[in-house]
Formats: sequence, C-alpha cells, structure tokens
Amino acid sequence: MKTISTTSFQGQKPGTSGLRKKVKVFQQPHYLENFVQSIFNSLEGFQGQTLVLGGDGRYYNKTAIQTILKMATANGFGRVLVGQHGLLSTPAVSAIIRKYSAFGGIILSASHNPGGPHEDFGIKYNISNGGPAPENVTEAIYQHTLSIQEYHIVDAPDVDLSRLGNLTLGQTQIQVIDSVADYADLMETLFDFDQIRQLFKSGFTMRFDAMHAITGPYARIILEETLGAPAGTVINGTPLEDFGGGHPDPNLTYAHELVKLMYGDAAPQFGAAADGDGDRNMILGTRFFVTPSDSLAILAANAHLIPDYKTGLAGIARSMPTSAAADRVAEAMGIDCYETPTGWKFFGNLLDAGKVTLCGEESFGTGSNHVREKDGLWAVLFWLNILAARSQSVETIVREHWAKYGRNFYSRHDYEGVDSQRANDLIQNLHHQMTDLPNQKFGAYQIEFCDDFSYIDPTDHSISTNQGIRIGFQDGSRIVFRLSGTGVEGATLRVYLESYEPDSTKHHLDAQVALKELIGIAETIAQIKKYTGREAPTVIT
Ligand code: G1P
Ligand code: ZN
Repeated sequence: MKTISTTSFQGQKPGTSGLRKKVKVFQQPHYLENFVQSIFNSLEGFQGQTLVLGGDGRYYNKTAIQTILKMATANGFGRVLVGQHGLLSTPAVSAIIRKYSAFGGIILSASHNPGGPHEDFGIKYNISNGGPAPENVTEAIYQHTLSIQEYHIVDAPDVDLSRLGNLTLGQTQIQVIDSVADYADLMETLFDFDQIRQLFKSGFTMRFDAMHAITGPYARIILEETLGAPAGTVINGTPLEDFGGGHPDPNLTYAHELVKLMYGDAAPQFGAAADGDGDRNMILGTRFFVTPSDSLAILAANAHLIPDYKTGLAGIARSMPTSAAADRVAEAMGIDCYETPTGWKFFGNLLDAGKVTLCGEESFGTGSNHVREKDGLWAVLFWLNILAARSQSVETIVREHWAKYGRNFYSRHDYEGVDSQRANDLIQNLHHQMTDLPNQKFGAYQIEFCDDFSYIDPTDHSISTNQGIRIGFQDGSRIVFRLSGTGVEGATLRVYLESYEPDSTKHHLDAQVALKELIGIAETIAQIKKYTGREAPTVIT
C-alpha cells in the first residue's frame, strides 16, 4: 500500500449528477485519485464493507476502474463487486447495491454526454439505498477535494476483469460479476414476461436503439433472448468507447437512426432508445413520439396492468419542470403527487419513505421504487407490458389518455454551449423582473406568479433553493428557466414550456404550434436571443 502526496484541484464540485469533465481533465495526474479519495474521506464505517463498481464503457472507463479498485483496496473495503469488463448500467448498479446490501457504489459515466479521448468522462457516488448521493454527501465530498493532501492506493498489477469469478487484491475480495444477470432477474419479478413473450410471438415489431452504449447487452439478453423478440430488434447494441461518434441521448435529435425508422414507411409498432449509462429512455410508436412527461402519466394510469404495481401506487413524484400530466392521474387516483427539484437524487427520500412508487423527469427519465435511479429499460418493459395487456397501438393509448385527462402540451428548448457569463446575466435579469411580473398580461396569458423554485424535503426537511425560475399563468400554463447542472463547457439554458388543453378537438396539434404564443412570451420576458446570441434553440424536445 502506498500513500501518495497530492495537492487539491479547483472545480471538483459534483453537479446535478456527479462530477463530469473532459477526459483530458480526468487524465491529469492525481485528478481522478483526488476525487475518489475525497469520496472515501467523506464516508464513515465502510471498512470491511462492499462497494459496487462499474461504468458505461466510455473512453477512460478501463483505466479509471483499475485505479478505483486499487484505491478501494488501500482504503479498506472488504469486497468490491465489479461488472465484467468494468461494465454496469446506472440502474444495474443501483439494483446490485440493494440486492447485496452494499455500502455504496461508484458509477463511471457522463450519462448522455459524448465519449472518446476528446469528449466527456464522469464519476458518481451512490449510497446504500442504491441512489445518487444526496446534496449533503456531495457537498462533503467537494469540501474534501479542496483540502486533500494525500491518497491511498495499492501497488499491484491490473486486475483481470474479463473473466467472472473471485480474486483477491491485498485484503479485499474482488468479485467480477455478470453485468446483466442481477438486473435481468429483477425485471422478471416486476413484469409479466409471459404476456410480453406472447406479444412478440404474435408478430409484434419493435426496435430498441442502444446508441452504441451500455444497454446493448442488457437489451439483447432481456428483449431478444428472454422475451423472444426477433434478432435485430436491438440496434447499435455493442457498447463502444466513443458511442460510434454519436451523442448517446435518446431524444428526437440524437437518436436519429431510430427516429428515421419509426417515421419511415416500414415503421415497427414500437420504438425505444436508452442513453449512455442506461437510465434514460425514449418511447415512440409508429410515427408517434411520446413526451417523457406524458409517459410518466401513462405508466401511472396503467400501473394496475403490471404485476408489481397492480396493488396500487403510494404516490407519484415528478421534477418541477416536468409537465403536470402526472398530477392529473394522481388526482384521479386519490394519491399524492410531489414536485421536486431537477435531478434523481431528490426522489430517493420519497421512495425510501414509501411516499411514492413512480417518479419521472421531463428529461427522458422514469423509474420506480424497484431501484433508486431512473431506469431506461425498465420503462421500455413497462410500456411493452401495457402494449401486451391492452393490445392497442402506442398512439391510441396516448390519445385515449389525453381524451380522459386532457393534454399537457409540453416542450423543452435547450440553448447549449452559451457563454456562462451571458447565461447568468439572463437569469439575473429574470430575477430583477420577478416582483413586477405577477398580474402582467401577455396576449391571452396573465401571469399569476413568478418565483425561483425552492424545495423542502418532506422527510429530512433539508432545503434546496435556486432550482429554476417559474412563471405561472392563470390558466395553469408555465414557463420555466434554468441552467443545466450537468454541462462540461459553457452553460446550457433550458426553457420549459407547458400549457393545458382540455378540449380533445385540439389534441392533434403539434406541440410547437400549440405552444407558439408561450414561446413568444418566453422570448419577450427573458430576451433569450439577446443574451444567448442565438436565433434558435440547439435542441428541442
Ligand atoms: C439533466 C436533466 C435532469 C437529469 C440530469 C441527469 O440535468 O435536466 O432532469 O436528472 O440531467 O440525467 P441538467 O443538465 O438539466 O442539470
Ligand atoms: Zn444517463
């Protein structure tokens, strides 16, 4: 065992989801080690306990895994469960932490950000409930990064992660585990696999786009091998270090291969995609896109069809910018709906306390109490189970949902890579207008309130402030502005737009058309073009 002297780095502050930086930043001597040691320094009582370790396979995953194994050993973990080849999806890590009562886990991923020597890398710590470390833990880690002077590592050859089985490194047992098995077993306990098998037997057609990222092996085993979907159902199914040069974010812009197929002449009945580390999902029907906010509401409304959820939902939680479609379902069911800040870590306490069963974010994240992360393939299986139980198309299911509950037209406009100073100025400018905006009228829309969202956790009463500027209108429409907390360079402005339409003769409208007036109001109030220097958003979802 060696103790190495080091000096602190600036900027090792975890964002919405862990520490994300360019690979080049992580490759600086001691950079990764400092952060990993700071994680361990912020924890108590892990000696002799189990750590789960894996990543999405992006460039630098292999190198970082070896360093972390050697550091976990030197710091006194009793056992490390590491995915074969260093691979584990984010929801799989969560499932494994819970199943084996591990102390915590380290996930190597920058989620949906591109990978490769010139792209992004990331590292994230999850606690013993399987969920992302809450803010008090990430803050403690950050404080340690500022004062770190040394780290511990064993001097040993690299561990062979290609073969399953047990090894020892120093005093620590290293178990190289199958990346898929525990996760696949869990899925089988939640859904009616026989019913889904029947669906595929009847000739049902589907494409799942793994976007050259981590879900490829999971989807092949679960969809093709276990559920009998024809070979070729999973596309881009081999994880690549650079995700094939793509941007592994399952949305209409980046999942273009799948989108082209689903909007083409020979479109399958169901299309889905997942992101770099497997926690996000996109759901498509034939020439039909399901917004993530609607998807959450529809899963909730159909939960009675799913074995694990048929006894009822305790409650639903959604992040603040997510549309209120789920609130309407919760209301009809007579259950609570919680509104949390952006980021999955805010759902953990609600799930642990048994206050909610389903959670979701507009950013293509959906999940339940089965793990403490959002879960891409889980959402796909949930939809498959609904499709099998209802024998209707995706589009019909969504349209029937709107007819019953009304439609929450929804869209998010992202302005990526904006100068940070200018993005902060835009937010400042909104702050200055905050007290004057209420009661002002813009066309048909009258502003009811304007605030910077803050949240008091109902279980531990911790307070999170400055979570996004909300402008609420009298008819329930909303515009929300916030800056991304996951970016690596510059700033990303996110503008969230929502309006409610009870009249089913208007439900066929395109969201951008239905939201046109609100989009104009957002520009008038925030002066997006002036501050960002952009004529149009980079990504519209
Ligand atoms: C984004 C999403 C957020 C999600 C996070 C991690 O964070 O908006 O909903 O939880 O990625 O996947 P942001 O970049 O907006 O801070
Ligand atoms: Zn992700």
